[in-house]
Amino acid sequence: MMTIDQSYNNSNIIIWKAASNIALVKYWGKKSFQLPMNPSISITLDQSTTTTKMEISKNKHLEREIDFYFENTKNELFAKKIENHFKNIEQEFPLLKEYNYKISSSNTFPHSSGLASSASSMASLNLCLASLLLKNNIIEENNFYLTASRLSRMGSGSASRSLFPSFAEWGIESEDYATNIANIHKNFSDICDAILIVSSEEKTVSSRIGHSLMEDHPFKDSRYKNAKKRLLNLLKVLENGDWSTFIDIVEAEALELHAMMMCSSPSFILMKPNSLKIIELVRSFRADTGLNLCFTLDAGPNIHLLYPLEIKEQVIKFINDSIDPFLEDGFWIDDNIGQGPVNLS
Ligand code: PMV
Repeated sequence: MMTIDQSYNNSNIIIWKAASNIALVKYWGKKSFQLPMNPSISITLDQSTTTTKMEISKNKHLEREIDFYFENTKNELFAKKIENHFKNIEQEFPLLKEYNYKISSSNTFPHSSGLASSASSMASLNLCLASLLLKNNIIEENNFYLTASRLSRMGSGSASRSLFPSFAEWGIESEDYATNIANIHKNFSDICDAILIVSSEEKTVSSRIGHSLMEDHPFKDSRYKNAKKRLLNLLKVLENGDWSTFIDIVEAEALELHAMMMCSSPSFILMKPNSLKIIELVRSFRADTGLNLCFTLDAGPNIHLLYPLEIKEQVIKFINDSIDPFLEDGFWIDDNIGQGPVNLS
């Protein structure tokens, strides 16, 4: 389990690395301030990470300033988003107004890969803030990760789950923050995720708009009923190691998320023709070989191919032989289940 390294105590630099996560049961639709309409479960990844470095100095004029650099370049758009996030959390933690911040952030995955970085970036940023609060005795060490998760959630709901190793849930124990799922069967303990990049274009619809489309959605009641039912089944499956039911649940969830967007008003088709082609290939490869692998998607066209480590060689051959022509420039990311955030201060 993670320990909190106190080495930043005498320094004004805090650095945290956090990974992205892929939801198995999807959060889609929110209520009041960044609370989910249904609970969700995700796998924390390992390789797709954001590192955020926060340099803090005492603010003499009581006018907090934030300078934000993404991949060494000043980024005003992100700075504005972060500014809004600070405003939201400073009501609860006024201490944060007493500092100026130089925040530098970088991703391991290419910016233009079409992969959402909000989960890893919000998680690493809010871990830095939680460290600052801890250092000032505003929060206690035993609440550190839950506070970081709650603050992350306020910036991006799915980010709340990136604070924990392995599998995380958000909305079962609390809607305010996510927690780690214990008792994972060994069949899922080394799960891998080949992230197949079909398109690196910017998303055509933001998740903020996607969530809001659920408010008057004609299928919202069945969607939330299904999500809750699948979540309970998935929790059992994660304990009993049943890959076959895992596959059914995970693929149904991904397709239902996309179905919701297709029949919302306005309607959005988030997959590309090559996403569907890959889904067909995955299903026929599974039928032909009997191997345990399945797909899931975020709210975009890229496919996450989930499989146990023991079949990695066959999966890589399958990607190279069959899937490669449907990828953008043959690009995919070789990721796997991760151990949670790391303090690099
Ligand atoms: O965290 P947001 O507001 O970007 O929403 C993310 C929603 C999905 O990625 C589609 C699903 C999920 O649970 O991560």
